[in-house]
Amino acid sequence: MIIKVDREKCAGHARCWALAPDLFELDDEGYVLPGDITVPPGQEALAGRATRACPERALSIGED
Ligand code: F3S
Repeated sequence: MIIKVDREKCAGHARCWALAPDLFELDDEGYVLPGDITVPPGQEALAGRATRACPERALSIGED
């Protein structure tokens, strides 16, 4: 499983990071770093929650 990041939609709410700080990295201004995030085994449910928490719908789940 991967999380796809649409950096254009990110508005810096940081809800993803607040829920899953080990999965997401933010830049100095609080925007999520671009690029696909590989979800470690066992963290799929957390990844789903964090993805759904983004009010800008900047995150989506994909298969790697
Ligand atoms: Fe950006 Fe959404 Fe996270 S706006 S910082 S991807 S909660």
